[in-house]
Amino acid sequence: MVGLMAGCLALLLAMRSMVVAMIVAVGAGRPRHLPDRTFRLDFHTKRANLRAMIYSSDTTCFNQIRMYRATFDKLCHMLDTIGGLRATRHMLVDEQVAMFLHILAHHVKNRVIQFEFGRSGETISRYFKLVLNATIRLQSLLLKKPEAIPEDSNDHRWKWFKGCLGALDGTHIRVQVPAAHKGRYRNRKGDITTNVLRVCSPDGQFIFVFPGWEDSATDGRVLRDATTRPHGLQVPLGNYYLVDAGYSNCQGFLAPYRGQRYHLNDWRQGHQPQTAHECFNMRHSAARNVIERCFGILKLRWAILRSPSFYPVRLQNRYIVACCLLHNLIRPEGVQDPLDEQLESFDIEPATDENTPIVPLETTDVWTNYREQIANEMFADFVAQR
Ligand SMILES: *[C@@H]1O[C@H](CO)[C@@H](O)[C@H](O)[C@H]1NC(C)=O
Repeated sequence: MVGLMAGCLALLLAMRSMVVAMIVAVGAGRPRHLPDRTFRLDFHTKRANLRAMIYSSDTTCFNQIRMYRATFDKLCHMLDTIGGLRATRHMLVDEQVAMFLHILAHHVKNRVIQFEFGRSGETISRYFKLVLNATIRLQSLLLKKPEAIPEDSNDHRWKWFKGCLGALDGTHIRVQVPAAHKGRYRNRKGDITTNVLRVCSPDGQFIFVFPGWEDSATDGRVLRDATTRPHGLQVPLGNYYLVDAGYSNCQGFLAPYRGQRYHLNDWRQGHQPQTAHECFNMRHSAARNVIERCFGILKLRWAILRSPSFYPVRLQNRYIVACCLLHNLIRPEGVQDPLDEQLESFDIEPATDENTPIVPLETTDVWTNYREQIANEMFADFVAQR
């Protein structure tokens, strides 16, 4: 009896090892042809890569996608719930978003991303567009709602400009266009660029971004277009934006006096304003500097804005907007950003040169007098403090 049981056991054991051997043989012989097995392994390798890139530490996360992990989580959540971005069988939302941000942050070629994320070129560009569109859908949420400088403001840079909503400026971003269209996009320096109108709040958040003008378009023309189109830039009566000397001083847009000292550097050498107009320009320049910083930080963060892109113009216009929206998400008021320090050594582009007279909208006596009044108040205060 015992012998029989031992025999059965031996037989069972033998059968088991045979089955195991068969499985091993099948597995070893053609592991790549077991579709669901390969997929799962692959999937886990990709998740592991993503964990190393994003979730292992804030420092690596910032280096890879220019934001900390908490912001990344928040962004993924918003894109999922509001932007309508969906996980697919092949890629979860966080990997789609990480890939998109990595492209904006480093502006590497599709080929490099293929290697880093283990995806095909076609997959990468398909998901890039999906995440881009989802990001643009967050626009009304992420764009800053303008708030006027209050009567009782004690911000040393902004208190002079009661009712002001922020600063407005045109800037150039290098783009790639088909040879046939190059002429239209060539700027005076010979670069192929697009003219982007941007509007920032006093705390350095984007209120409005309007890209996509051929560079040969003047700042004034771009502004006129931006203010007249539906859903364009609105400036309520009694409010205004600071603009540079490239624009004319007219209702809703407060410009510095032409032909006077203006740039911050002019004042750093200990020069003191001698007239009300100089005083006005000094204060104007100090406040408007926020927009230069804002764009400086933006370009530092997203390498894709620093060199001619590999993408067609229509897509470029959309991702320029996306970069600005992400900027607002990453930089809520008062948060320290590692890029602030780098900015000090970053060469901020010079403002529009003064020799291009632009008359976008009508200048009026009322508005001219309004500027004169502010200038006189400033100078009276300046003299009193001296
Ligand atoms: C993204 O949006 C643009 C413009 O609305 C549209 O033409 C394009 O088909 C969309 N792309 C995807 C992948 O949804």
